[in-house]
Amino acid sequence: MISVDINGINGFIDEGEVRRIDSQAAYDKIAALNESGWIGLPGEYDAALSAQIRDMAARICGQSAALVVIGIGGSYLGARAAIEYIISPNYNALPKGTPDIYFAGNNASGEYLQQVIALIGDRDYSVNVVSKSGSTIETSIALRFFKAMLLDRYGADGLKERLYVTTDSSGSPLREMAAREGYACLEMPPRVGGRYSVLTVVGLLPCAVAGIDIDAVMAGALEEMESGVDNARLYAATRQALYRNGKKIEMLACFEPAFRYTGEWWKQLFGESEGKEGIGIFPAFADYTADLHSLGQYIQEGERTLFETFVSFGEPRADMAIPGGSLHDDKISALAGMGMHEVNKSASEAVKKAHIDGGVPIIELSVPRLSAASFGALVYFFERSCAISALVSGVNPFGQPGVEAYKKNLYAILGLV
Ligand code: PA5
Repeated sequence: MISVDINGINGFIDEGEVRRIDSQAAYDKIAALNESGWIGLPGEYDAALSAQIRDMAARICGQSAALVVIGIGGSYLGARAAIEYIISPNYNALPKGTPDIYFAGNNASGEYLQQVIALIGDRDYSVNVVSKSGSTIETSIALRFFKAMLLDRYGADGLKERLYVTTDSSGSPLREMAAREGYACLEMPPRVGGRYSVLTVVGLLPCAVAGIDIDAVMAGALEEMESGVDNARLYAATRQALYRNGKKIEMLACFEPAFRYTGEWWKQLFGESEGKEGIGIFPAFADYTADLHSLGQYIQEGERTLFETFVSFGEPRADMAIPGGSLHDDKISALAGMGMHEVNKSASEAVKKAHIDGGVPIIELSVPRLSAASFGALVYFFERSCAISALVSGVNPFGQPGVEAYKKNLYAILGLV
């Protein structure tokens, strides 16, 4: 479903360099690594799991007008990306029959939390706390607020009915809390790391609450799993060949604003998987055409250590024709009647040419259209490419020891150790 075009690297590196990278050996290693539980997820998804998630989502939809998803990093980015990509970045503002979804616990700002609470107002709400470890400080703080507020508003029985816990199947204090205090608990499958967990209950429960067809998401992932390995290897090998030639920064770019949080999720996936032991491609994301008017200057003429990866969609989910008529006194009359998708495609072509001329190689990823299935396919494609790419570079994609450094300092500064 996801196709890869590397013509935009011609003139920068020889395609032979890409072919010489042994991405097959890297791929063969993945299954052997203990943290690779994510690799078979689309094949393991079945009617029972689908029903379990959809039943819980129906319960939430039946009891609440809003759902608060508490979590950080891999415990929220995938769900947020999915809702924005599959439905809309304006999901909460749209008329719909499903609850508004707010994200909390993904920062340590009191102002942000206060605003989420104000947005919920007097409406009925439920809470889904998501944490693999069950001990992340931002998540724990937000949970304290919402537990106390649920108890205050709905009493002890209401708290039990409205707090949903998603956590690791063993060793998580959240799991123990759920068992002790009687909350519904969804377990993350074993050996799936936080940033590789979007295609589990972590991402799928909020998606189901938003009315997304989670079976379609998983069908798209399955199709990609079964047929996309060569494309994942090509993307991974091309990235590494560019890195070996001094291209240290990858700018993922998309011309659809619905993709923005998928870009945020992608940054975490690649940043935490590859940036270690003093090496790694720095993952950046640009939202075009908006960022052409901010980052565009740097990309065109700044330090030549960048390559770009464009994500484009074959057909638009919705389109609008540019208005004509005598009301308009500007320089674009010739565009009257043209669909905006056509303008967006032309912008992509224009940027590609300008950036290649300016010294930026470009990889192109094509996706048929924005849909539940293509979201699942993209997630699987990126997870598999990322793991291959990290292993080609010689690092283990599945740890994130660097994230611990700030956590240790924070615990010490706050007097928690
Ligand atoms: O990829 C990871 O494992 C991490 O980035 C986590 O997603 C993030 O730190 C949140 O951790 P947890 O789910 O344990 O609260």
